[in-house]
Amino acid sequence: MRDWETGSGEDGRAYLGGYLRSSMLSVPQRLSGLAQLIEHIAEGCAELGEHVARCAEQGTHAAGGNINSSGDRVCELDRVADELLVERLAASGSCAGVVSEERALPEVLPAAAAPYLVAMDPLDGSSNLGCSIPVGTIFSVRARGEGDPADPESYLTPGTAQVAAGYVIYGAPLELVVTTGSDVHVFFLDARRRWRLRRDHVVVPPQGKIYSVNEANVSRWEPELRQWLESCKEAGYTQRYVGSMVADVHRTLLKGGVFLYPADRSAPEGKLRLLYEAAPMAMLFEAAGGFASDGARRLLEVEAASIHQRTPVVLGGRVEVMGVERALRSSGSWHVVAATRRGRLPCIFEVGGRRVDGHLELSPGGRQHRFSSS
Ligand code: AHG
Repeated sequence: MRDWETGSGEDGRAYLGGYLRSSMLSVPQRLSGLAQLIEHIAEGCAELGEHVARCAEQGTHAAGGNINSSGDRVCELDRVADELLVERLAASGSCAGVVSEERALPEVLPAAAAPYLVAMDPLDGSSNLGCSIPVGTIFSVRARGEGDPADPESYLTPGTAQVAAGYVIYGAPLELVVTTGSDVHVFFLDARRRWRLRRDHVVVPPQGKIYSVNEANVSRWEPELRQWLESCKEAGYTQRYVGSMVADVHRTLLKGGVFLYPADRSAPEGKLRLLYEAAPMAMLFEAAGGFASDGARRLLEVEAASIHQRTPVVLGGRVEVMGVERALRSSGSWHVVAATRRGRLPCIFEVGGRRVDGHLELSPGGRQHRFSSS
């Protein structure tokens, strides 16, 4: 064990390794390698932070010609982030396989019988590189169980199955925000590149004063959701939005209010990804006493039908998240006909006051559904 893995620094702030082992993880979690896994992700992100800084200094952030599995234009740093973090996950020996935004299929790691599977967005918000807006890495950890790490189905359990989730924000300083379910811990990277505890017991206030959304999309929203936004303005809310999920979510987690990326007429499934953006953030918000919804349901209970599935996202305080759900419920757009089997049923649904032909897809057992327009 390295010296900085135990104890605290001279200012009494605990180091990540020691804190994981002494306070944050239960004995079975420590024994099963969750501490090693989180530390390796954190070390990888510390290294990635240097690439992000170098890239900003040298102005080498421009997007290249490649398109990733999500249809986004990939810049060199997206590729570096993905490779570096996959390497660190492999070195942890605790991770059997990884789903990455940058890869169409799961990557099987050398320890294919290891206890955990990871889903990650290695560099979220990379279209903001080059203008000093913080970008981030988002990760979600699930127990592998008997799942085959090569099989996408093994990663499709609902967010409630996550055993840890977090993100790193490449600001000044770098911060790691992580939960294993019952508390949210914030670490910062000190000048000697060691992760130190900044705070725990993060609590999302039940009601805040800030809404964070891309308001350019408002004309494509449900009228009821537009009305909800107007009521926020009348109630004295202010808006903050930089278009980098980790930055917008970090502020919402710490200061309260609401972050949302709802479905709209041109994107009936929203924009953000369920497995490696929405579900880990939902776990953090619930662990901090906040709420997380897809506009109709608890986000953590939504089952993915595919590894790169998109979902609408609403994260924040109880009052705001319930306000959005109430608005969407009254719009009726999420009203679903009863169905009890897995399959793809033709249906008509309503988005932004417009009727759209599409399909309703049911997961095994018919407990979850998702729409796709035809
Ligand atoms: P990218 O990684 O391509 O920059 O996408 C960023 C994501 C997410 O971080 C952010 O919340 C959202 O896209 C912003 O989307 P809009 O530009 O549509 O608001």
